[in-house]
Amino acid sequence: EKWVLAIDVGGTFTKLGLVNAKGDILGAKVYDTGAKLPYKDFLSKLGIELRQLLSTHGKGIDVVAAGVGAPNANMHTGQMEDPPNFNWGTRVPLAKSIEDMCNLPTTIANDANAAALGEMTFGMARGMKNFVVLTLGTGLGSGIIINGELLTGENGMAGEIGHVNVDPHGRKCNCGLTGCLENYASVTGLKRTVFELISEMREESTLKQISFDDLTGVMIADAAHNGDPIALKAFQLTGEVLGSKMADTAAHLDPEAFILTGGLGKAGDLLLKPTIASMEKNLFIAYRGSIKVNISTAPSSHAILGPAALAFHYHVDHS
Ligand code: BGC
Ligand code: NA
Ligand code: ZN
Repeated sequence: EKWVLAIDVGGTFTKLGLVNAKGDILGAKVYDTGAKLPYKDFLSKLGIELRQLLSTHGKGIDVVAAGVGAPNANMHTGQMEDPPNFNWGTRVPLAKSIEDMCNLPTTIANDANAAALGEMTFGMARGMKNFVVLTLGTGLGSGIIINGELLTGENGMAGEIGHVNVDPHGRKCNCGLTGCLENYASVTGLKRTVFELISEMREESTLKQISFDDLTGVMIADAAHNGDPIALKAFQLTGEVLGSKMADTAAHLDPEAFILTGGLGKAGDLLLKPTIASMEKNLFIAYRGSIKVNISTAPSSHAILGPAALAFHYHVDHS
């Protein structure tokens, strides 16, 4: 039986493990990425984790390839190109670094593109041919499956909906542009909205005591469940922006479904209700009422199923 090494590099956490074609996972591990520390620090930590994983779980099984999902990954060069929420430089040779460390043929793709393959192979998009995965975490990632295939584009980097413009005079994005969607619809974007509302709204709110760095998406969701007016308004505004950009995306692609994952997805109806209302309001009339918006049922520990699907798709199935 064939197994692959799967690694998901996120703005906050890195996840790795071994996965077989049924989606069984061995030795799953989650640790801090250290995106603001130098790249070489990330590599030495990853090296330790890889040796540990392969020596404890890789013995006696046939590990044939590695799949890696990472922000701003270019499938063709194997590099992360100017990843906005990382201090690792402009061209990060992630595929080569990992290939050198583990001696396995390594495929890299954008983390959200990998997630879309993962949902199609192992998750709730089994049997779907046209859908978009949106990962709402530190940033906003997107992976697009059209006609049953991952949309890859000229550079193997297609699907960067997090960097479409929602306001030309809006918030500065870490990518260098202004007003990108991820600054509104992501955990970081939600926090920024909360802080804007705190300076504008007079209402009492438990969120007023918390610093930006300490504030989490879960705290905002908890506050909203307790009726906190700032938290409720923040989810409302986030859903409005997200839903309208989903309607734009639908106009390009005619998808059957959107699947939302990542920290913000855990907010459930708090996010879904305003998002769906806004999407429907802005949707091309002929699509109205027909596009599903689902929250991924895969737990966040299963994020490595995306990179695993990538390795199976591009190496194992074609070898
Ligand atoms: C990056 C994307 C990535 C997303 C989620 C964004 O900032 O530009 O490439 O998919 O974050 O990690
Ligand atoms: Na993408
Ligand atoms: Zn941007």
